[in-house]
Amino acid sequence: MADSVTDRVLARLQDDEANAIERLCDWLRIPSVGTDPKFDEQTREAGAWARDHLRESGFEAELVETAADGQRGHPAVLARSPGADDYNGPHVLFYGHYDVQPPDPVDLWETGPFEPVIKKAENGIGERVVARGACDDKGQVAMFLEAMRAWFRETGEAGGGVKYTVLLEGEEESGSVNLPAFVEAHKDELSKCGVCVISDTGMLGRGKPAITYGVRGMEYTEVVLHGPDQDLHSGLWGGRCPNPINELVKVLSQLHDADRRVTVPGFYEGVKEPAPEELERWKALGIDAGTQLKTIGLGPEADVGEAGYDATTRNWARPTCDINGIIGGYTGEGAKTVIPSHASAKVSFRLVDDQDPEKVRDAFFAWLDERTPPGCRWEKIDHHGGAPATVAVDSPELTAARKAITRATGEDAALIKSGGSIPVAGLLKERLGLDTIFMGFGLDDDRVHSPNEKFELDCFRMGSRSHVVLVEELRAMGG
Ligand code: BES
Ligand code: MN
Ligand code: MN
Repeated sequence: MADSVTDRVLARLQDDEANAIERLCDWLRIPSVGTDPKFDEQTREAGAWARDHLRESGFEAELVETAADGQRGHPAVLARSPGADDYNGPHVLFYGHYDVQPPDPVDLWETGPFEPVIKKAENGIGERVVARGACDDKGQVAMFLEAMRAWFRETGEAGGGVKYTVLLEGEEESGSVNLPAFVEAHKDELSKCGVCVISDTGMLGRGKPAITYGVRGMEYTEVVLHGPDQDLHSGLWGGRCPNPINELVKVLSQLHDADRRVTVPGFYEGVKEPAPEELERWKALGIDAGTQLKTIGLGPEADVGEAGYDATTRNWARPTCDINGIIGGYTGEGAKTVIPSHASAKVSFRLVDDQDPEKVRDAFFAWLDERTPPGCRWEKIDHHGGAPATVAVDSPELTAARKAITRATGEDAALIKSGGSIPVAGLLKERLGLDTIFMGFGLDDDRVHSPNEKFELDCFRMGSRSHVVLVEELRAMGG
């Protein structure tokens, strides 16, 4: 049988793989740490790099400013393929992000965070690229970029004839703060899209591809408790005035009750219990909490969280509250006796179903006000929020993606949810009614956001091939 055009594109992808990895490494060398103003220039450079890559694949591509005049921000890459004359499939919005998390703590990296290297796996099976952003999200965006490149080289058609709008954000790791205004400003174009595709999530396990049908939402706050107007000698003043650290931790320790439920009134409003059939499907995935805990150095006794739910349910379907950092007082070498003038904490909430980030913020701030320690005052900061997103598992687009994954990898995609957050998905659903297909190829042990982040070439390969085949499936959807 003669090779189909998709087979030829897949062959081209394979022949070009070493170059594709080289290109990814070039991108990874640009330290696009979006949250740190020191890297503003490099962050823009990483956006321009992706724009140029898309142009080379026949896309019309540009950088679009997202921040209001005079404000700090990182441009979005916006690109388009026109779609073949006979294309009747969905107009696809591909979303990804080119900003990365800070590399800290830098000391713990075995090689430089922005000096990508190809390493053999510890068990000798397969290779991985190690660098900040290798998996989250440059490596995963590169799977799409390389699929587009292979289609264009083979057929001369941008996007292989699929009508794509590509949106690569530079502010995802900063909570996508300018994205709502961007979506509003580009509503005309974005509302023409029929579905969004994102590769920024994980698989069920090594060699086990998955489609994620839900991510949690997020509300991220910072609270500062102010006491005396100066730092004080803890001997002279201890016992005579409030110590903001003592008082702050006393308040924060009330956030959870004995069942590890969040105590803020109204917090669970909008949370739904998963249907029994859904819980059955999750059980059938064979996820073992003990095995997972082992990978982070913990024993089975560490399987703790909200009472009454197993680990998977807690992660995928229950909201949580976490203190991400506590700052205050003397933290240098040795001992120093001091009562600090203030103390602060970064407190975030992961949200599910119909929980509303703004309502959660208001409820939390009101809860704090009711507990203001005598003589102290709160300063409250809302860093960012994003709605949760759960999508239908029986849409024709999702079916096309499942078919593509099966054909590309030889494995059926598991249907999973994730405890992580990708703010754009909730936003697109809320503002445009647009569903997202999360077709990600990360692994739990990829160390995203941590030192020695890696992406395995096997995963990269599965993802690139899946994006290649998805083009054919999308075209077939148009009949
Ligand atoms: N790609 C991640 C989220 C993710 C990872 C979802 C793995 C599912 C599986 C994303 O870049 C991320 O880190 N998001 C942040 C949220 C953001 C508002 C800072 C998160 O989840 O903490
Ligand atoms: Mn990401
Ligand atoms: Mn991330």
